Amino acid sequence: TTQSRHADLQTAGSHPILDRRDFLSKAAYAILGAGGVGSMIAWTRFAVPNVPYGKPFRFALGKSDLFRVGTTTWIGDHDVFVRRDIHGFGVFSSKCTHLGCTIKKTADGFICPCHGARYDDRGGIIHGPTTKPLPWYHIWIESDGVLWIDKQTRVINRTSFPKIVV
Ligand code: FES
Repeated sequence: TTQSRHADLQTAGSHPILDRRDFLSKAAYAILGAGGVGSMIAWTRFAVPNVPYGKPFRFALGKSDLFRVGTTTWIGDHDVFVRRDIHGFGVFSSKCTHLGCTIKKTADGFICPCHGARYDDRGGIIHGPTTKPLPWYHIWIESDGVLWIDKQTRVINRTSFPKIVV
């Protein structure tokens, strides 16, 4: 009986050790597995071209003669304002450069409803929290009179109104 009690104690004593080893090896496999999944995700991201699919960046804004001289028209589908004056057309973003809310037109410029940023009528900053003016985009008119925009190409100098001959 002493022998069998000794055997019981040995057996009972060895279980927690085995359990811990078993747990540790399972945890190691889990960590290795998670690392492997992470690597797979990283590899998949690397293998996929970094090109934004979805909305095109070149598109027609409409017949140019629909935009009257002296107006600024919001085109919500494309998040831009089309401005036309006696010099021609200009198109700039209607997304606040702070965190991307859609700005609203005011009597003398634009205001962001989210945190109160204000822009002048050409997208220059009147006050923050934003630190960047509204971007203007490259535009052109095709021979059929339709106004086009390329949102990947920005017009750098917003202070000289981008002109196109019409
Ligand atoms: Fe326009 Fe914050 S998103 S002020």
